[in-house]
Amino acid sequence: MDNDQDFLPINGTDHIEFYVGNAKQSAMYYQNAFGYELIAYAGPETGIKDRASYVLKQDKIRLVLTTSLVEEGTIADHVRHHGDGVKALALWVDDAAKAFEETTSRGAVPHEAPKILSDTSGSVTVASIKTYGDTVHTFVERKDYKGVFLPGYESRKSTLKVSPVGLKYVDHCVGNVGWGEMDQWVAFYEKVMGFSLLVTFDDEDISTEYTALMSKVVSNGNGYIKFPINEPAEGKKKSQIEEYLDFYNGAGVQHIAIATDDIVKTVSELRSRGVDFLHVPATYYDDLHERVGAIEEDLQPLKDLNILVDRDDEGYLLQIFTKPVQDRPTLFYEIIQRKGAKSFGKGNFKALFEAIEREQALRGNL
Ligand code: FE2
Repeated sequence: MDNDQDFLPINGTDHIEFYVGNAKQSAMYYQNAFGYELIAYAGPETGIKDRASYVLKQDKIRLVLTTSLVEEGTIADHVRHHGDGVKALALWVDDAAKAFEETTSRGAVPHEAPKILSDTSGSVTVASIKTYGDTVHTFVERKDYKGVFLPGYESRKSTLKVSPVGLKYVDHCVGNVGWGEMDQWVAFYEKVMGFSLLVTFDDEDISTEYTALMSKVVSNGNGYIKFPINEPAEGKKKSQIEEYLDFYNGAGVQHIAIATDDIVKTVSELRSRGVDFLHVPATYYDDLHERVGAIEEDLQPLKDLNILVDRDDEGYLLQIFTKPVQDRPTLFYEIIQRKGAKSFGKGNFKALFEAIEREQALRGNL
């Protein structure tokens, strides 16, 4: 689909906003462990009384960590209900009012009507619609803005010296939805946002001996935005998606996949900074070359770092998954390096889900 016919042209992911219990400490975690740089802040010192927000950046990725300073309100409620989690997957558009109009006229539930925010650096138009659970999509139009993030935020640097780990951009963001709800959310992205269905995985593709899930991937016109949607499926034991839904109290963002150009270097750095990853057994590597053919990387570092490899018709990809980044078994990260492959690592699903099940069993939830 070219942009002429695309009623919702999107330039990319603008930012991801998390609602957390303690944004100051979360910001430290993302700086120390993931190498993000603190670039902006909003809170009481900048005239905002009920919240504090820290903006972190690495290459094209911007994360916003927001906490409530008061007992009542949507931020406090969100954290009470879900624990730390993603509130907004914000999309960078050229016309936020039109994006709001096009999507709400097709059935999107409005979250915030278009409004213009301005300060001495210019103005930004934002508008948002609801998606699964309490998650929203915010449309951000920033062509008339030269400031560090958004009006209301001031530039902020940390005295902490951080070095980036090679995280480049958001590759895809995955949502977990309730039993039987996957198709209705796929239809939402198709009808309301003009996305198309890229690929379907049924429970045959991705069940282990015990647990199962189903997944469909939708993508926008230019392919910059990819949203896989998972739902639990019946298995002998509790689906990992069901465990997520229990602890998040409903649908929400399961994982954010971030691209790197050098996964060996990125994962070495992340491990040395204390990031925990899922473990697949050494036997995974025994027949790797037979499964994926020739790859440019040496096998040993991949094995040492527990990085997974998969191949499709267009090339191959390397990927690894962190353990959940908060105490509830909810949000985690994927680090991905694409070498031609546009897929999602289907060949690794079994090894991966068995690794997740081992963690689930340790938590007593399998
Ligand atoms: Fe993924």
